[in-house]
Amino acid sequence: MSMNRIGFLLLFHLEPRGAGGEVNTRAEQTPAPLSPPEKLVTADTVICSCTAAFQFLLNLNVSQFFSPFRYQSSVWHRRKTAVNGVSHRGKVLTLDSMNPNVKRVEYAVRGPIVQRAVQIEKELKEGVKKPFTEVIKANIGDAHAMGQKPITFLRQVLALCSYPELLEDNMFPEDAKKRARRILESCGGHSIGAYSASQGIECIRQDVARYIERRDGGIPSSPDNIYLSTGASDAIVTMLKLLVCGEGRSRTGVMISIPQYPLYSAALADLGAVQISYYLDEDKCWSLDVAELRRALNAARQHCNPRVLCIINPGNPTGQVQSRQCIEDVIRFAKEEHLFLMADEVYQDNVYAEGCKFHSFKKVLFEMGPEYSSTVEMASFHSTSKCYMGECGFRGGYMEVINMDPEVKAQLTKLVSVRLCPPVPGQALLDLVVNPPQPDEPSYTTFMKERTAVLAALAEKARLTEETFNTVPGITCNPVQGAMYTFPRITLPQKAIDKAKEEGQVPDMYYCMRLLEEEGICLVPGSGFGQREGTFHFRMTILPPTEKLKVVLQKIREFHLRFTQEFS
Ligand SMILES: Cc1ncc(COP(=O)(O)O)c(C=O)c1O
Repeated sequence: MSMNRIGFLLLFHLEPRGAGGEVNTRAEQTPAPLSPPEKLVTADTVICSCTAAFQFLLNLNVSQFFSPFRYQSSVWHRRKTAVNGVSHRGKVLTLDSMNPNVKRVEYAVRGPIVQRAVQIEKELKEGVKKPFTEVIKANIGDAHAMGQKPITFLRQVLALCSYPELLEDNMFPEDAKKRARRILESCGGHSIGAYSASQGIECIRQDVARYIERRDGGIPSSPDNIYLSTGASDAIVTMLKLLVCGEGRSRTGVMISIPQYPLYSAALADLGAVQISYYLDEDKCWSLDVAELRRALNAARQHCNPRVLCIINPGNPTGQVQSRQCIEDVIRFAKEEHLFLMADEVYQDNVYAEGCKFHSFKKVLFEMGPEYSSTVEMASFHSTSKCYMGECGFRGGYMEVINMDPEVKAQLTKLVSVRLCPPVPGQALLDLVVNPPQPDEPSYTTFMKERTAVLAALAEKARLTEETFNTVPGITCNPVQGAMYTFPRITLPQKAIDKAKEEGQVPDMYYCMRLLEEEGICLVPGSGFGQREGTFHFRMTILPPTEKLKVVLQKIREFHLRFTQEFS
């Protein structure tokens, strides 16, 4: 099953909460008969790649489970302690003994509000009466989950790659077949079920490099600097892993924007890195100001070693598109302060506002001349999950590294090889994204029609969202210049803030929970992304189909007015 990298992680008697950790003081017990192994398995089975499952357990500090000695002793331990089903030694893995960094990880996009949304959906199915008939999940940037149709060409080629007998079928266009044959020829055993090279399939890395060159007006890109990844998330975490080291005041500090996409804070917590927050300027369309970068950096130097600057452009959750000038200023700052740049550009095709344009960090870096292009170290990230494709489930992505020390690059290659390879279907999909149908090919017209329709609908929804929110007293919304989200500011009455405190919730969580319970709309509270003290926001995706989005906006409007009235 290497194709989809699926495995099963069976969680043998993992405690749902911290176990008591008692120690067995009675030295001799009558050995009880061993239960058959299947009886030891509680129902917690998680589907994931085998490598990922192993990694997961390592993170929880339980690698010792796998040593033969430990296995022997755990059998003996079960014999000694299973009398009357009562354990006398407690669990090896408890909330107290597990990796503390994992406990610090938070991920609001799939947090408590989403868990409650799932529960409400179940209640609706069971016939529980609610003031609404469906839950609309506008919490996550998952286009297909919100009803977006796949791009025909992409799925045709993937179907052909998955089931090559279809290459004989007349319903598939010749260019789709040609692509599928090329991909299959580069796979082990001509099957996307084989592992690939850890860095990714060679010819796909070549296609990615050519795509970057075209995008950046001919600035060279080498396939050797391209690493294919399991979505952009995987590459971002891998890069951070390479960068984070040191102890105490010399621990690596990583600069991230606030509001931020919580992958970053979660990864930093997991790695025990120091998060250095720099604030985007809400009053200036969430723009990035170098003076604010400098303030954050200088303050952080007191307690850590700042070495990395992360930028998301176009921005999530704030939807801003950085100007060329701003990118140039950031690059100059990174050089001056000797920082490694991480440019998250997964929304590079999602630019809607007039006068805004996507500029890649790499292009600007090279246009600034050799003083910068040959010195500033950088990694940039892209993904198949966003833009017009929205193919999140295939987990395709890549990173390009620039000016990386060759010895570190060898370490990076070693690190990614531990995971064997990114999903091969995701790599195949990425190949089509970076190498789409050309004007003289049969699929071109349909491909362009579908691509343009998705992006035009997103642009329309971006405009509609901003306009509608700005008509609601107490909601202020910056233009959604790009990406897939809006992050409007909500003014909450003091009584609502007090009520939230009484309920033990942060005010915007209280607001979003009430919205979910009363209107069936699932948003993410601004506190999950970070925001200036005393301000409140929520993040909403603009992905629901236009008609549904209009309903969502109307319901939020009515709720907001009702909520404000209630606490005034
Ligand atoms: C800014 C940003 N970076 C990275 C990701 C991760 O995307 P994926 O791992 O699906 O490629 C997301 C997903 O929403 C994102 O918004």
